[in-house]
Amino acid sequence: MMRVLGIESSCDETAAAVVEDGRVVRSDVVASQHEVHARYGGVVPELASRAHILNVVPVVQAALDRAGVALGDLDGIAVTNAPGLIGALLVGLQTAKALAWVTGLPLVGVHHLEGHLSAVFLEAEPPPLPHLALIVSGGHTSLVRVDGHAEVVELGATRDDAAGEAFDKGAKLLGLGYPGGVVIDRLARTGDPRAIAFPRAMTGAQHGAEFSFSGLKTALLHHVRAHGVPEDQALADLCASYQAAIVEVLVRKTRATARLERLGHVQICGGVAANSALRAAMVAAGAEDGFRVYVPPPGRCTDNAAMIAAAGYHRLVRGERAGLGLDATPSAPLPRRA
Ligand code: KG4
Ligand code: ZN
Repeated sequence: MMRVLGIESSCDETAAAVVEDGRVVRSDVVASQHEVHARYGGVVPELASRAHILNVVPVVQAALDRAGVALGDLDGIAVTNAPGLIGALLVGLQTAKALAWVTGLPLVGVHHLEGHLSAVFLEAEPPPLPHLALIVSGGHTSLVRVDGHAEVVELGATRDDAAGEAFDKGAKLLGLGYPGGVVIDRLARTGDPRAIAFPRAMTGAQHGAEFSFSGLKTALLHHVRAHGVPEDQALADLCASYQAAIVEVLVRKTRATARLERLGHVQICGGVAANSALRAAMVAAGAEDGFRVYVPPPGRCTDNAAMIAAAGYHRLVRGERAGLGLDATPSAPLPRRA
């Protein structure tokens, strides 16, 4: 049995978790900084770094305590080292390195998106390999073919904003606070998704698995300039219509890619995978087209360290070891091969 401590601090969540054999979650602790950033309508990098510094040791300690283990009971440490806010990444990385140094435990760096891809493997019924993955987070939107752990091929990505960014910027424009995805999700439940016709960009076959969401945000801006921010039912209708534009493009591209790649299993991961409309629409599309959909529970779609420990496990069992010179990288493509 291999027991891995995962540490994640790439954005505005300080997280630590203990996972056994990349499958069994013994603890999963997340300290969110949403309150720190809410009044600014987005993540303030310097404030994120400072909050990580305050939170990281108590969060790691809580992860060990909840798992009922001591540092000496661990077999390895996995830490997110790319991509993300550089100051934020460094806090988790330096903590992991210090722990690896004092304990002599093996250390591996994990790409944040490789972590998101691994979250679904913590579920009772993970998708078989190969499968198609739609990664939808605050910073990334892409479709990748997953051939193995840390063995992926990117088939397409967004040319501009990520889907989560579209949710967050839309919510900010509507004065709904940060992070906005979950608020739009909630308000949209009682709204009419056909109330306002928002654009669906790059849906032609020639655009393949490429996405674009920046025009949608601009369309919302024009709508708000012309009509103001509505209230009550009209606000719900606006949120539902805006959300529908994002969800429809994500689902349309995913089903076309699944068909093209002949993949019968599809996972959705990253924070936007927590969106109830996206989950429902993808399952419905899968039922029509004959692919099965796998989505982690909402808490494992958004940033957490259990997914980092799970991804790190597969690197550790292959004998990968990072030295104490392991560095953080603010932007890095998803590694194609281990
Ligand atoms: O994966 P994540 O926690 O952090 C990044 O790696 O970026 O994703 C955060 C994103 C934010 O944009 C947030 O608004 C969005 O995920 N999100 C949602 C929902 N929950 C989180 N978007 C739509 N509906 C939700 N329920
Ligand atoms: Zn993330």
